[in-house]
Amino acid sequence: MIHLQNATLQYNMSKTPIFSDVTLHIAKGEWISLIGPSGSGKTSLLNIIGGSIELSSGKVFIEQTDIQTLSINEKQLYVREKISTVYQQFRLLPQFTVLENIMLPLIPYRDRKVIQAKALELMEDVGLEEHAKKLPSQLSGGQQQRVAFARALITEPDILLCDEPTGNLDHDNRNNILELLSVVHKKGKTIVLATHDDFVTKKSDRIITFTGNTIHIGGDKIASL
Ligand SMILES: Nc1ncnc2c1ncn2[C@@H]1O[C@H](COP(=O)(O)OP(=O)(O)OP(=O)(O)O)[C@@H](O)[C@H]1O
Ligand SMILES: [Mg+2]
Repeated sequence: MIHLQNATLQYNMSKTPIFSDVTLHIAKGEWISLIGPSGSGKTSLLNIIGGSIELSSGKVFIEQTDIQTLSINEKQLYVREKISTVYQQFRLLPQFTVLENIMLPLIPYRDRKVIQAKALELMEDVGLEEHAKKLPSQLSGGQQQRVAFARALITEPDILLCDEPTGNLDHDNRNNILELLSVVHKKGKTIVLATHDDFVTKKSDRIITFTGNTIHIGGDKIASL
């Protein structure tokens, strides 16, 4: 589903690469955790898979498509169809209601009534149906995180990228998010998730560990820890 081939990432001003010559395959339906210290490259890898930054050298395939060879428009279209990202800081639009925020990714492409029905269904799935008309600022952090998940899922992505999805959450909210992720996983979606949270890591199929200058690709949970 996701394949990196001889991937090297080095930011312009930096003397050393974040990682170099990494070849990595993530199968359809896998749930992968990315772990490692702050600044080791987890978010960077999510951005590469999501097509928002490019490798210094090497290739990124999503299914059979080498996304770095696509034009900007082609890449946007391709990524939008297949991939959604849940950002650490949620990135909800403050002037829109919860319902509107969830509908946004599909607004330009589908009939509004169809999108609204879908969004309402997702709001129920994430337990937010009572909050449809509120603004994000009127919600708790955990509730905002659930809105961000619903918004990511409305496009029915094959791949869900999550950056620290439980970072600021208490125990109950973390469990809510983990339950949501389990449902997504059972539906056969591919999940790539950056986390510092061991509890979250334990739920995944495989761990990729960043050390600051290389990436260890785990075969299974125990071997990679
Ligand atoms: N756009 C950029 N330009 C230059 N350097 C960058 C850029 N984005 C990230 N970096 C650097 O690359 C390194 C990896 O950053 P990244 O955000 O991928 O780390 P991370 O593992 O996600 O960290 P954290 O756990 O704190 O979120 C850091 O040293 C960071 O300063
Ligand atoms: Mg990060």
